[in-house]
Amino acid sequence: MIKINENYHKLQASYLFSDIAKRVAAHQASNPQQTIIKLGIGDVTRALPAACIKAFHAAVDEMANDCSFRGYGPEQGYDFLREAIAREDYQARGTNIEADEIFVSDGAKCDSGNFQEIFSTDITVAIPDPVYPVYVDTNVMAGRTGEARDSRYEGLVYLDGNKQNGFIPDLPNEPVDLIYLCFPNNPTGAMASKEQLQKWVDFARENKALILYDAAYEAFVQDQTLPRSIYQITGAREVAIEFRSFSKTAGFTGTRCAFTVVPKECMAYTGGGDKVPVHSLWNRRHTTKFNSVSYPVQRTAQAVYSPEGKGQVKELISYYLNNAKHIRQQMESLGYECIGGENSPYIWIDGRTDSWEFFDRLLNKAGVVCTPGAGFGKCGEGYIRISAFNSLENVQQAMVRIRKAL
Ligand code: MLT
Repeated sequence: MIKINENYHKLQASYLFSDIAKRVAAHQASNPQQTIIKLGIGDVTRALPAACIKAFHAAVDEMANDCSFRGYGPEQGYDFLREAIAREDYQARGTNIEADEIFVSDGAKCDSGNFQEIFSTDITVAIPDPVYPVYVDTNVMAGRTGEARDSRYEGLVYLDGNKQNGFIPDLPNEPVDLIYLCFPNNPTGAMASKEQLQKWVDFARENKALILYDAAYEAFVQDQTLPRSIYQITGAREVAIEFRSFSKTAGFTGTRCAFTVVPKECMAYTGGGDKVPVHSLWNRRHTTKFNSVSYPVQRTAQAVYSPEGKGQVKELISYYLNNAKHIRQQMESLGYECIGGENSPYIWIDGRTDSWEFFDRLLNKAGVVCTPGAGFGKCGEGYIRISAFNSLENVQQAMVRIRKAL
């Protein structure tokens, strides 16, 4: 008899964004005339930068000739892309990351979900609340938690984000082994300072812990004093893995390309206390389960770092940040307290009411989709998240409708 992984039965409902999509589809079916504006899931709407499209076409043409055709590539990604990432995203910004510490993949969602798999199931995991649900759900699936009670899984150490700490969680009061952090934060849009991240890195070093740092939204950081990478923090090479993505940076949500940085100094420990490089564990996992991203897509990602690509990406980011500014201004003018939207495409709004109720109100009365804060954890209750990923026209229209509806 084929038996299920019982841990799947502990999971709460369905994946947040599938749940929302189902509700929106049901609403659309009963209101076929209404044009729904989607500011829910952070999915980009603008075309790939012209430099990327040019590279994409050229690489597809290479695949059309036997002499330039490529079959399997290196599992970790082609050198041309790994070298461009190391040089442009790290070395040019004064951080010491080498090309062979970069693992190209098809998404930060997959990598941040899969990474926990190389660690023991009996480690203690610290997860912020509110949080991108993938970190929690993948640890539940792996069997690191007990049952969920009152929206929280037994066995996880929750790091509360709230107005008092500006949604930058404080250090836990107990030692933990694996720590998830995400800045600019999804869902709150909050951004940690170098000093705040230094405390986390110091804590991880003291506790022989590891930080899984999700920096998928780093391109939105405008304030030059804020860190765009965990490796700008002293000691982070010993204790931090960084997830990055071309999805939000360069419009790759449908194209799929991302990468994970695993510095060679990062160590995990055997039951007997012997050190094992995390790099070799992840390399083993990655080469066994993944065949990297297609050649044309890796060439497309490489074009992000060309002089034209850099300019076009900057323009894309400014476009979405301008939307974010408009959303925040409008919601504040309606009397709602907001954070985010300055170094992030997300605006986190205190709805002062049940967040699913607020979600339903915006959907039913304004035909606008947001994301209910409660879907990101207990501390998200009462909040909604509005995403800036849409056209300026749609964002403006959505805000007019919201103004009327509220
Ligand atoms: C979000 O809306 O939180 C993100 O788009 C989800 C994701 O990147 O997987």
